[in-house]
Amino acid sequence: MKILDVVGARPQFIKIAPVLRAIAYHNQENPDHRILEVLVHTGQHYDYEMSQVFFDELNLKTPDYHLGIGSGSHGYQTGEMLKAIEKVLLVEKPDLVMVYGDTNSTLAGALAAAKLHIPVAHVEAGLRSFNKYMPEEINRVLTDHLSEFLFCPTQAAVENLHREAITKGVYLVGDVMYDAAIEYLALAEKKSHILERLSLKTKGYALATVHRAESTDDPKRLEAIFAGLKAVAQDGLKVILPLHPRTRKQVQSLGLSLDSLNVIEPISYLDMILLEKNAKVILTDSGGVQKEAFFFRVPCVTFREETEWVETVESGWNVLVGYDVEKIVVAALNAQQGRRDFWPYGDGKTAVKIINLLSKK
Ligand code: UD1
Ligand code: UDP
Repeated sequence: MKILDVVGARPQFIKIAPVLRAIAYHNQENPDHRILEVLVHTGQHYDYEMSQVFFDELNLKTPDYHLGIGSGSHGYQTGEMLKAIEKVLLVEKPDLVMVYGDTNSTLAGALAAAKLHIPVAHVEAGLRSFNKYMPEEINRVLTDHLSEFLFCPTQAAVENLHREAITKGVYLVGDVMYDAAIEYLALAEKKSHILERLSLKTKGYALATVHRAESTDDPKRLEAIFAGLKAVAQDGLKVILPLHPRTRKQVQSLGLSLDSLNVIEPISYLDMILLEKNAKVILTDSGGVQKEAFFFRVPCVTFREETEWVETVESGWNVLVGYDVEKIVVAALNAQQGRRDFWPYGDGKTAVKIINLLSKK
């Protein structure tokens, strides 16, 4: 069996790590039924800190194809990816294409494969924010409707698919990001020196990330988020902000001040999970970071009006504050722990389950 994986953006390099490991394990256990894996990097993310650092640190294989697409408008970026992925598919003729999450790389991979009648497996299927203003919502709805195998991280995701009449090929497997978090936390604790490097004490700081288009492209929202973060810092809680390049550009073009914030470059995954685990509170608009806060039992404040990761809110670990300065500050300074008797993200063996299911098809 030949599987072709399409990745391109930061969270996908993290999601692919446990899947590649599960394929290696399968091949070791089943030498007569090996899975051939072809890795395609679209080049959606390309700065060292947004891409190569993950390949180096997580020991990921060098992509078999690097398409070098880079940045651009949605139509340009997705269209260029579609053309380039199609060429690779025609050469490689895989039995299956696997795509991850909800980025433009996800949609391009799924669409290129589906048009060539190659089955698509979607990892992180069924998530919905019900907000079509988000580019990710469009990507995930379309990808799900193109997929033959829909690997859902949560029961809520399964139910979302059922509501859209997708019932065939739906598997509740858990979350590959949880596999990655538990696999790499021990390594992070051994190898990362980020707390010492930034002179931080356990539970003595807030960790923040901001990058979603809905936050960055609306100046009022971005200003409110930064005003909230600065107010938290001025109240005495250090705010560490590894800044996504999209946000850095917007901050510069709006002339927003970063005074009183500890702004750093995007950091590696091992540094990130160690910073998350030791934070007093996490402030974010990231999908992955909301979940990692939950995995590490750190209260989370989310700059959004809705989330796909509804379990994090229902269990009391995550509060949605929209783009309201007052709400951001109150939630951050009074962050509460949630329930501990509730675990919706699987058992950390999601990638192995996915590969077992696919290898039997
Ligand atoms: C993309 C995904 C988003 C995901 C995020 C993960 C889409 C539509 N969005 O958003 O779902 O949460 O990745 O981080 O696919 N840039 C650089 N260097 C890079 C990459 C980007 O400078 O290595 C800058 C460019 O100015 C670019 C901008 O960031 O135009 C946005 O990049 P893009 O990949 O289009 O979207 P993200 O905001 O990263
Ligand atoms: N992440 C990282 N370094 C950073 C910021 C995030 O390694 O400086 C990791 C984070 O731990 C999570 C993933 O990137 O695993 C989330 O990616 P991002 O927030 O860019 O995208 P989203 O999850 O919202 O799609």
